[in-house]
Amino acid sequence: MTLDEIVKAAFTKAFPEEDCSAVRVLPATDPRFGDYQCNDALKIAKKVRMNPRQAAQKVVDCLDLSCFEKVEIAGPGFLNMTVSFDWLASSLSDMSSRPQCAIPQTGAGKRVVIDYSSPNAAKQMHIGHIRSTVIGCAIDRIFRSLGYEVIADNHLGDWGTQFGILIKGYRELLTDDERSNLTVANLEKCYVLSAAKAKEEDGVWKEACKTELVKLQQGDAENLALWKRFIEISIGEFERMYKKLGVKFDTYRGESYYNDTMPGVVAKLQEMGLAVESEGALVVNLEDEKLGVAIVRKSDGGYNYTTSDLACVKMRVEEYSPERIIYVTDARQQLHFKQWFSIAEKMGYTGVKLVHVPFGLMSFQGKAISTREGNLIKLDELLSEAVKRSLAIVMSRRGTDGASGGPGPLPTDDDIKLAEQIGYGAVKYTDLSHDPITDIDFSWDKALALEGNSGPYLQYAYARVCSLLDKAETTPELLSKVPFALSTQAEKRLALQLLEFPGAVVRAAEAYKPSVLADYLFQTAQLYSSFYQSSPILKSEEPVRSSRLRLCSLFGATLAKGLQLLGIETPRRI
Ligand code: ARG
Repeated sequence: MTLDEIVKAAFTKAFPEEDCSAVRVLPATDPRFGDYQCNDALKIAKKVRMNPRQAAQKVVDCLDLSCFEKVEIAGPGFLNMTVSFDWLASSLSDMSSRPQCAIPQTGAGKRVVIDYSSPNAAKQMHIGHIRSTVIGCAIDRIFRSLGYEVIADNHLGDWGTQFGILIKGYRELLTDDERSNLTVANLEKCYVLSAAKAKEEDGVWKEACKTELVKLQQGDAENLALWKRFIEISIGEFERMYKKLGVKFDTYRGESYYNDTMPGVVAKLQEMGLAVESEGALVVNLEDEKLGVAIVRKSDGGYNYTTSDLACVKMRVEEYSPERIIYVTDARQQLHFKQWFSIAEKMGYTGVKLVHVPFGLMSFQGKAISTREGNLIKLDELLSEAVKRSLAIVMSRRGTDGASGGPGPLPTDDDIKLAEQIGYGAVKYTDLSHDPITDIDFSWDKALALEGNSGPYLQYAYARVCSLLDKAETTPELLSKVPFALSTQAEKRLALQLLEFPGAVVRAAEAYKPSVLADYLFQTAQLYSSFYQSSPILKSEEPVRSSRLRLCSLFGATLAKGLQLLGIETPRRI
């Protein structure tokens, strides 16, 4: 039984008439007061009109005391609990025997759709696309670990006026060679050139682009084939990035997928009296909720982002019946999501929980990212740079290892693989270690620091555990049969922290913040480091030696699992 369950059982026994399902045991805020605390006796006392200290006493009388060294009633009726080393040992054994470090399967039988990354087609991904991709991927992995069935859907921006501009540009501004070896870079170039021409005074080019767009919208075979090719090439290029980042989608349903259903959605809005004509456009008034007015059909008859998200939710609900849908986009889209979530609710989509996870801006080395600043760095370039810098670190470590003299060894395939793991991990961790909503600054020094709250620091902590186990000539499998023999405060602090892992995963999911998990992992690594410094391991006598090795091994497994949920790899050797 978990501590939560033990304490809950005591509450239920003491107050059989009351609903005790909300009783919670929390880690103590100050270790001087014990290891855990529970404040629920006060709440129950209020309900049953009892003196709170007496209520707390009644709970203690019903408590299975064999798990505790000490239980105290403090202040107005708080329970302060100090667990016994025996309980700690058996809880740790239990945790390490369960799959996935005992992450509870609270999502079993539930389905969620996660809509993330979702870049616009025919453009290369740049540094601004990292956040949605990396945060979305971590949320995806965290939900899967909890047993949810996740449908990761990449809602590509694959429709709109830009395709008229692109088609015209493709036909007239690219060389034959560029057309036959079409790349996203060429498409981007062709868009820039064509968009510039569309600004020319005479308006001829602009008109021609519009004609191509209308032809596409009307299903002209040639334009449709071109559009399809642009999308295929774009997805191919995006997938090259996703492969590096360990991101995988179940579907790539872009905005275009919902084209045919948009008129029906708008008709329904009109039928329900939710959408009304205003200056030629069709709008939904949300003033009562202080959300302004949302356009669902423009005055030229075209649909917009709101319409497409409404058509999309209809499809997702009908097809997948998800328990919730999670959208990961930048915070500037908050109003958009608030507006259409409200419209969806009015339309009757109340059985699905719609969640927007907004994230803040990212600056690069202290400078805002913008085309004008000229630092709209391509994602591909950023990732290559991360690998290059990591490789330099890897090679310099080889050098100090004294592996070779002279000008230094050439990197092997393994070195390059390691540099990729470190570099991509560093980029991801920089993002994931911050609350999504905050603005963050990316700096190479911080991202690649071997000390401090960084990806490489955590990867290095993991590699050190592996090398310790190697040195002891043991493995996690062998250690899993060893009994825990715990007796020191350093052991206890680390053990208590490890037991919090499943809770940290649950909290990260509930808050849609991978940073909760990242914070937990960093704190755990720090506690491990103080344990490691204060507690001899290989030099201790049995049974302490093996017990400590098992504690190290459990720390390693927890850290590796946590990093895996953040999408960060854990090489055994750095
Ligand atoms: N393509 C959009 C962008 O680049 C993000 C789409 C997010 N998903 C959605 N269903 N609206 O900002």
